[in-house]
Amino acid sequence: MDTLTIRRPDDWHVHLRDGAMLQAVAPFTARQFARAIVMPNLVPPVTTAAAARAYRERIIAAAPGFTPLMTCYLTDAADPDDLAQGFADGVFTAAKLYPAGATTNSANGVTDLSRIYPVLERMQDIGMVLCVHGEVTDPDVDVFDREAVFIDRVLGPLLRDLPGLRVVFEHATTEQAVAFVEAAGDTVAATITPQHLHLNRNAMLVGGIRPHAYCLPVAKREQHRLALRRAATSGSPKFFLGTDSAPHTRETKEAACGCAGIFNAPYALESYLAVFEAEGALDRFEGFASEHGARFYGLPLNDGTVTLERVPTDVPAQIGAVVPFHAGETLAWRFVG
Ligand code: NCD
Ligand code: ZN
Repeated sequence: MDTLTIRRPDDWHVHLRDGAMLQAVAPFTARQFARAIVMPNLVPPVTTAAAARAYRERIIAAAPGFTPLMTCYLTDAADPDDLAQGFADGVFTAAKLYPAGATTNSANGVTDLSRIYPVLERMQDIGMVLCVHGEVTDPDVDVFDREAVFIDRVLGPLLRDLPGLRVVFEHATTEQAVAFVEAAGDTVAATITPQHLHLNRNAMLVGGIRPHAYCLPVAKREQHRLALRRAATSGSPKFFLGTDSAPHTRETKEAACGCAGIFNAPYALESYLAVFEAEGALDRFEGFASEHGARFYGLPLNDGTVTLERVPTDVPAQIGAVVPFHAGETLAWRFVG
């Protein structure tokens, strides 16, 4: 097979930033994807429907024709009425839970889930999806264990209390997350990034420290990468595409304290497709990229198609001020359009 045509896909987790960075990166996402769930971790964060409306307009101006699906950044002070009204008005598609301090621009996140139970109960009632950054932030928990501990201490108890809440476990990185999502009811799903399908923690730490392989949740041991590859290519409707493309300038990543985040938007489909091909699962790519996410969110599937062809694609060392995922590598497929 030398070309692959699939229904036009969506990205169910992306950071488009704002200002000049938004102008630089949004066209890459819009080129490959019809819609994307846009993360709200701006400075200041997108916490109100009014702010989300304004941000949506800025995104559309930067990428005409693209459909951004907005999320509300939950804080301890989140207002259930504004959230529910924003959802009813079609401004918010989902709300995002960042445990305070878990990742980039999460300082205003939720300090204790018990503080936002009224919000979560309302979301359960109205069928609004909660996107979860699934890591605890306790300083005594090893960074490689933070996802598994989050499942035990936070997500498991939450779903026992609110069993009808629709949850996307964002950027799953462990076999524990895969097992949890598989065992949960059909109200729980997960996104998987290309980097966590390609990289284990050796890729970040062997032969020198590689800041462009660093993101959060951090890449784990090989057994976890293999579990993610099995899940993504399994055909299960619980797993779908979410790039977590998270651009930071080269200077802010190549630093004594480098930022977390990998910019994978420009070659996202080529990157995922390499994994599906290696796993002998090209026939399952369309479900993962173009169907499972929309169905989980209760949205229509896209019209139209995109095509990839088996033509070697050289990934540049830098795109603007940002080093992309796979920089300097050659990928086997090329996005045609
Ligand atoms: C994201 C960012 O830079 O906004 N970084 C990352 O490593 N993924 C935040 C996030 O999704 O955790
Ligand atoms: Zn993210």
